[in-house]
Amino acid sequence: MNEARVANVVTALQNLLADFQIYYTNLRGFHWEIKGRGFFVLHEKFESMYDDTATKVDEIAERILTLGGTPENKYSGYLKVARIPEVSGVTSSHEAVDNILNTYKHFIAEERKLIDLANEANDAVTADMLTGYLKEQEKMIWMLVAFSTRNCEHK
Ligand SMILES: [Fe+2]
Repeated sequence: MNEARVANVVTALQNLLADFQIYYTNLRGFHWEIKGRGFFVLHEKFESMYDDTATKVDEIAERILTLGGTPENKYSGYLKVARIPEVSGVTSSHEAVDNILNTYKHFIAEERKLIDLANEANDAVTADMLTGYLKEQEKMIWMLVAFSTRNCEHK
């Protein structure tokens, strides 16, 4: 693999790692603070989503290590490069689901760019890992849109 091209992949993975870490703490906030209609469903769902996000954080960090990089582990470091904002105080299911949908749209766009970078570096493993994320996130968008549409009808 070409070193400069692999370095591009590592940098992009570092940025994605930062985004996933911010997303993880945002989901913890939604899990703790959600109120009202849908509480029991969403409280549980956000927990499974942050557990899944923690798994992805570890996969991304270990991919960075495999490619010869050192993954950032400090939140102060993540905040310097993260492209999604920290959020808190979200108590409404609509606001939480909208935030998650926007975050997925961001991840999907960034992962597509990263897959191109990985392919340029002949890094099929990173491309495959991110293609798996895309597949899950596209499906999750469909489910979240279905969920929020139904909730709006009963508001
Ligand atoms: Fe909990």
